[in-house]
Amino acid sequence: MHITGLDEERHDQRWEGQRALVTGSGQGIGQAAAQLLASKGVRVAVNDIVPERAEATVGLITQAGGEAFAAPGDISNPSTVERVFQQLDEHYGGIDILVNDAGIIIKDTLDNTDLERWNRILAVNLTAGFLTIKQAVKRMRTQHYGRIVNVSSIAAKHGGGYLGGVAYAATKAGVAALTRGAAREYATDGINVNAVMPGLTYTPMTSGMPDWKQKAIEDSTLVKHGGQPYDIARAIVFLADPESGYIDGETLDVDGGTSLD
Ligand SMILES: NC(=O)c1ccc[n+]([C@@H]2O[C@H](COP(=O)([O-])OP(=O)(O)OC[C@H]3O[C@@H](n4cnc5c(N)ncnc54)[C@H](O)[C@@H]3O)[C@@H](O)[C@H]2O)c1
Repeated sequence: MHITGLDEERHDQRWEGQRALVTGSGQGIGQAAAQLLASKGVRVAVNDIVPERAEATVGLITQAGGEAFAAPGDISNPSTVERVFQQLDEHYGGIDILVNDAGIIIKDTLDNTDLERWNRILAVNLTAGFLTIKQAVKRMRTQHYGRIVNVSSIAAKHGGGYLGGVAYAATKAGVAALTRGAAREYATDGINVNAVMPGLTYTPMTSGMPDWKQKAIEDSTLVKHGGQPYDIARAIVFLADPESGYIDGETLDVDGGTSLD
């Protein structure tokens, strides 16, 4: 019996020549996803609002023999998004994989979140995905192929708590709905849209957490520890895989068995 996907040659070559944009890939989860994609032969546009971080990731990828370029800028800004996609067109002639990773966190209560910060977190965590998906889909449609992976959070399920406040959770719930809706709209264009829902992951975003809080979150997992950026990157790359075409509109928990739903 021939089982598609176990064909050795196809297995090795299926990533070759693909082109990806990973937003917020100057550190943490996005950086690990960019590195893992590049290690498979994917050419990567590395976006980050901090240009030095984007350059650092490009350095790591090229030192390891991969291909990448820096596309810095605030990805919630429509003109940045346009420019980043123009850069992708110029460097690689389009895009096959979009990873919407860029994110910021607010840990405060609603009482202590003013409208300016509310609008900012919505722009970065949710509107940026709306903008990048529209640009990516324009290109993916013409080739009838694309993989879009969004980064939500288990905070979406509980309205926040240990991992971020209400504003953060609301944006991440929005990402989950955006994922399902976009999956429905673009499925017949050959474009799959999925999301990961990470639990606690040890990155600069969570590094300032007090020990008691970190321990409480670790205790709430089945595995009794948080995840490394690579753990989340593996799930992102799994969903971005050409052979994951039967997975669509999924939000995949990567949380050490916290949610169990
Ligand atoms: N770390 C966790 O425990 C955890 C859990 C669940 C979900 N997440 C989500 O995973 C994603 C990555 O988180 P992380 O922990 O790696 O965070 P991080 O802060 O370590 O890295 C995020 C990167 O995004 C960049 N960035 C921020 N705003 C940007 C913007 N407007 N445009 C472009 N780049 C921007 C930052 O400069 C930074 O380099 C985020 O969406 C976050 O909400 C993280």
